[in-house]
Amino acid sequence: MSERYGDFQLEIYQAGLRGGQPRYPVDFDGLERAAAATLPAWIMNYVAGGAGNERTQRANVEAFDRWGLVPRMMNGAYERDLTTNLFGIELPTPLFMCPIGVIGICAQDFHGDLQVARAAARTGVPMIASTLSQDPLEAVAAEFGETPGFFQLYTPRDRDVAVSLIQRAERAGFKALVITLDTWMTGWRPRDLNIANFPQLRGLCLANYFSDEHFRKLLSAAPEDDPAAAVMEWARVFGHSMRWEDLTWIREATQLPIVLKGISHADDVRRAKDLGVDGIYCSNHGGRQANGGLPALQTLPDVVKAADGVPVLFDSGVRNGSDVIKAIAMGADAVGIGRPYAYAMAIGGADGVVHQLRSVLAEADLLMAIDGFPTIAEVKRADLRRVD
Ligand code: FNR
Repeated sequence: MSERYGDFQLEIYQAGLRGGQPRYPVDFDGLERAAAATLPAWIMNYVAGGAGNERTQRANVEAFDRWGLVPRMMNGAYERDLTTNLFGIELPTPLFMCPIGVIGICAQDFHGDLQVARAAARTGVPMIASTLSQDPLEAVAAEFGETPGFFQLYTPRDRDVAVSLIQRAERAGFKALVITLDTWMTGWRPRDLNIANFPQLRGLCLANYFSDEHFRKLLSAAPEDDPAAAVMEWARVFGHSMRWEDLTWIREATQLPIVLKGISHADDVRRAKDLGVDGIYCSNHGGRQANGGLPALQTLPDVVKAADGVPVLFDSGVRNGSDVIKAIAMGADAVGIGRPYAYAMAIGGADGVVHQLRSVLAEADLLMAIDGFPTIAEVKRADLRRVD
């Protein structure tokens, strides 16, 4: 049986008897407001903003409101079991933290990647560490404790650098490779464009490149001596526009399970499955890349159907525990929390993230109790209907 995640509410109410209140909000709107009051505008804009007029980003969130779970009674859900298995890895819950490239600078000490890794160690919720980090991937992996960590790859155009990043991740102890397919170039993001801000071009979150011996070989001077030239070289090598053939050399480079992130179309799922990938990650990047698409949740059922047993990870628009449960009821095997934990990082570092993850898990666990779904397998069989 799992930890009783719902007991977090008892902790809060009991502290209330002694006059204490939670240090951080337990809900998304409260977190977002608090982060906006804490973060400098250029970071807040970058995290909160999306592509175009942000219609897809809003639709991702609103899509959850159009679905409702039909509860079951007399179902013995006093004990709940949230354990989940992803390509042979046992996880205490289906929740994971999405890769967020600027999480490093969301922290007040600019070491947010390390702090997320510590939050992962404390909660058992895996972190997918982005290629774009303030601290090198080896330092991030060293903070995971017993919790498995996954490495997200933005595949560089230079193959040596790409293989080097993959193999560094494997050596550092990451347990899966998550390759992001939808971001070999950046989407049109008006909030950032209007203030001419792109953090990586300011040299931020590039530690994995600057610490890489193959990347450094491409430079005529070390990044410490000529940071501007190193950043320009990073911009040149950053984004390889992947083709299916690329999976061959990636497979040869690593033993790690491979997950493809950014998949929405059933044909792409089938292609990936034919090529033997270990996981499909259904996501539209939180609406940050392409505006005008469907809400990610609406693409999930087709992806699950085509995946036909290959594990499906999902993100985009998940704001609370009830969203997590709905995504699982639609067939996701694991569900990613994105912007909410970035806001929690901004206001409370690792403690803020632990609080936010516990809030999501408490709500999910209580919902399973009240709605009569004692296990994740039963959530998957839940009656989920469109709201009229
Ligand atoms: C992201 N996302 C992302 N994805 C990825 O594969 N690598 C990355 O480095 C980043 N960086 C990043 C930065 C910021 C500020 C955000 C908000 C998002 C996308 C992320 O993994 C996930 O797909 C979205 O965050 C899901 O959308 P919501 O639920 O956060 O709105």
